[in-house]
Amino acid sequence: MRSFKNIIVTGGAGFIGSHVVRHLVRKYTDVRVINLDKLTYAGNLENLRDVESASNYEFERACITDEAAIEAIYQKYQPDAIIHLAAESHVDRSIHSPLEFVKTNAIGTANLLNQARLLWDGDYTGKVFYQVSTDEVYGSLGASGYFNEDTAYDPRSPYSASKASADHLVSAYHHTFGLPVVISNCSNNYGPYQFPEKLIPLIINNISHGKDLPVYGDGSNVRDWLYVQDHVDAIDLVVHKGQLGETYNIGGHNEHQNIELVHNLCDLMDQRMNQPQGQSRQLIRFVKDRPGHDKRYAIDSAKVQMELGWYPHVKIKEGLAKTIDWYLDNKEWLQHVTSGAYQKYYDKMYKVGADG
Ligand code: NAD
Ligand code: DAU
Repeated sequence: MRSFKNIIVTGGAGFIGSHVVRHLVRKYTDVRVINLDKLTYAGNLENLRDVESASNYEFERACITDEAAIEAIYQKYQPDAIIHLAAESHVDRSIHSPLEFVKTNAIGTANLLNQARLLWDGDYTGKVFYQVSTDEVYGSLGASGYFNEDTAYDPRSPYSASKASADHLVSAYHHTFGLPVVISNCSNNYGPYQFPEKLIPLIINNISHGKDLPVYGDGSNVRDWLYVQDHVDAIDLVVHKGQLGETYNIGGHNEHQNIELVHNLCDLMDQRMNQPQGQSRQLIRFVKDRPGHDKRYAIDSAKVQMELGWYPHVKIKEGLAKTIDWYLDNKEWLQHVTSGAYQKYYDKMYKVGADG
């Protein structure tokens, strides 16, 4: 088991990153946790209000592609662990702006790796660079089968190709320079603080405003859903106990067709909003499919279960109910992230380097 003094979490103001930061700050009070984030449209310090005044929490605004900024932050904090989540994460945006994804996800990761190599300078004892990645690097499954750690990479969107590039760079730094790395590839997360461009918060937000619910294609695509805290628990185990140079697949064994999930959300929202059953389903609209839309993702997480003792705890019914409650109780958060007002505020409050 590794133990750390200073952990840098990149992308700590995003959806999963903010849960990781909160978890580490509260659980490891003698460890300094540094949130390194550019605060793009997806990064929001409001996600961390409840831990921002903790004595072991620090925030640095920087772009991961900026060599000088990353070098300075590494020098300042001397991290022994880097948990790398910063990314452009939305597949639809990657179809409109592929180069942004290559810059952040591939070049940004290369820069973080390179600066880690320079900082640690061959003294790798007790150090780890942890790449948090996605199951989408494996491509798309048919009706049967699962992705495991030996599945060949076959990314099919600019997002997944940029994450695959990043994963390959992480492996290359391990094999070529001996950098102590670990990678995990996780399935679809959901829960509080997820930006409402992703399916589950988008559906909740649209129902609460009586807006149409766009379902791509015929809604038969399948995703393997995992409640975000279960992913955070896995990240905690992997960073402390994962074998260096290894990959761990993390998934919920919780497959649903999109249309089935949307129906489920509609019915739960009708109950929660005291509406007649069936009212929200009337908002469903089948729309043009996502180009290159991957059919099915499903994860075999036997390795992380056997080696690290990780299991998902939150069942979908409980997870969706918690998520709906959170979004309905946090309308101000939703209003801020969708209005763009917070983005203007942060642009005034924090300057970002020339590369950013
Ligand atoms: P997110 O979009 O909610 O957050 C991304 C964060 O990265 C934001 O805070 C953003 O400001 C920051 N960021 C973006 N570009 C940056 C840059 N150039 N420099 C510094 N910071 C930058 O993403 P998420 O859904 O929380 O995903 C986090 C990570 O987990 C990503 O690497 C993603 O590929 C991976 N992942 C996500 C899921 C999922 O279902 N959401 C599943 C598996 C893996
Ligand atoms: O599998 C892990 C990945 O899951 C992560 O790496 C990504 O960062 C994350 O965004 C997510 O990717 P998906 O493309 O699977 O998630 P999204 O929420 O965008 O879409 C889920 C499914 O719902 C997908 O099949 C597309 C469909 N969809 C999505 C939206 C936004 C719709 O039918 N309508 C929509 O409006």
